[in-house]
Amino acid sequence: MLLFLLLLGIVGPHCTSARTHSLKNFYTASSGVPNFPEFVAVGLVDEVEMVHYDSNTKRAEPKQDWMSNITDEVPDYWEEQTQIALGAQQGFKVNIETAKQRFNQTGG
Ligand SMILES: *[C@@H]1O[C@H](CO)[C@@H](O)[C@H](O)[C@H]1NC(C)=O
Ligand SMILES: *[C@@H]1O[C@H](CO)[C@@H](O)[C@H](O)[C@H]1NC(C)=O
Repeated sequence: MLLFLLLLGIVGPHCTSARTHSLKNFYTASSGVPNFPEFVAVGLVDEVEMVHYDSNTKRAEPKQDWMSNITDEVPDYWEEQTQIALGAQQGFKVNIETAKQRFNQTGG
């Protein structure tokens, strides 16, 4: 049955030809930018945002219905992604402080 579904997937309407897809993750850290979170992480599939985290909400959240459903298979997914993003946020905060020191940047 699984093989049948896989075959359907291969010849189905969504996959009529071989196609390259992309997965991109962007991490943005900043300091003192008004109305902009100090840390933002977004994940894009084929240029469509599917996951978002920022230092204001401190939550990794789905941006597409099909990402919401991942908890059917991985119940802790969003908690795990939140912890990963929190760790990245802390690392990037240190990096920003280091950069400010090296470039003698005392302000934002
Ligand atoms: C996601 O889950 C909801 C609720 O179970 C369902 O209605 C929807 O079709 C699912 N979406 C996808 C893309 O699987
Ligand atoms: C920062 O300041 C120090 C001490 O005044 C100086 O030696 C260094 O060249 C400065 N760095 C930059 C990137 O301007």
